Amino acid sequence: MSDLSFSIGPLRFPNPVVLASGTAGYGYELEPYIDLDLLGGFITKGIYPAPRAGNPSPRVYETPSGMLNAIGLQGIGMVRFRDEVLPFWERYKPPLGINVAGECPEDYARVVEYLDSHPRIDFYEINLSCPNVQTGGRSPSWFPEETKRILSTLRPLTKRPLIAKLSPHARSVEEIAFAAQEAGADGVSLINTFIGLAVDLKSRRPMLHNLFGGVSGPAVKPMALAMVYKVFQRVSLPILGMGGIVSGRDLLEFIVAGASGVQIGTATIVDPQAPLRILREASELLPSLGCDSLGELRGSLKPYR
Ligand SMILES: Cc1cc2nc3c(=O)[nH]c(=O)nc-3n(C[C@H](O)[C@H](O)[C@H](O)COP(=O)(O)O)c2cc1C
Repeated sequence: MSDLSFSIGPLRFPNPVVLASGTAGYGYELEPYIDLDLLGGFITKGIYPAPRAGNPSPRVYETPSGMLNAIGLQGIGMVRFRDEVLPFWERYKPPLGINVAGECPEDYARVVEYLDSHPRIDFYEINLSCPNVQTGGRSPSWFPEETKRILSTLRPLTKRPLIAKLSPHARSVEEIAFAAQEAGADGVSLINTFIGLAVDLKSRRPMLHNLFGGVSGPAVKPMALAMVYKVFQRVSLPILGMGGIVSGRDLLEFIVAGASGVQIGTATIVDPQAPLRILREASELLPSLGCDSLGELRGSLKPYR
């Protein structure tokens, strides 16, 4: 049997398939379809301090090679999350990550402070791609100083791993990853969605109520792979790579580019059993590449010739 495990700091993930924030709800929605204990990890929908209704519909639109979403970070807020969702996760073993969201650094701090005494939490994924109201709606991870400000506010509040989730829209994603490393992050995950637009020609209106949405799915994979590779060259932190992974082959390509593990998003929305199929495919493919472990493949991209 190949060794598919990887670690972020002291936290061991049994395999590289982690479910991406926002694409698998809080977890219990998937319980009828898959054995959650077989996952490498699970990351919740973004948690803000207060409940949020999200954007008006329509807020998802299918594109030829992926989807556009403008959910607007709908959620139950940190109090209901602690009372209703964390007890559910006590029945399952995989590492559980909380995707922390905020409109300002204080929001992020409130969520981490409120949840941190709960024993079932394994790590925090800090969603640095939400619009920050104090900076006119810009995402913190477009800017190294904003990235540092939020992570250094959170670092003293918890001993658990902090993973910075990065937007693909920074001028240099690798510089943002470096700033995250300097501010004490234990890992980075990338990428969040790309800003996109879908047009209804007949009405000449946007397909989404919000106008713009986030593009995810196979369309974004080549850009995501390039960013994972650049970040791997720049920082020593473990990387959770994502963007358009739909097969075991895709997963292993992210590992070759430098990811330690991956996240599966849109593929789970299409088929809730996709993550376990992707895991099976990757574990069957690995020995044919002459590797006994994912570690042997990690960052092994060679020059063209
Ligand atoms: C419907 C939907 C909701 C999402 N919600 C969140 C979220 O709450 N927090 C977050 O950090 N990323 C969120 N994302 C981004 C995904 O976690 C992931 O970064 C992105 O979809 C790229 O991966 P994929 O191509 O495998 O879907 C969401 C994506 C989708 C499609």
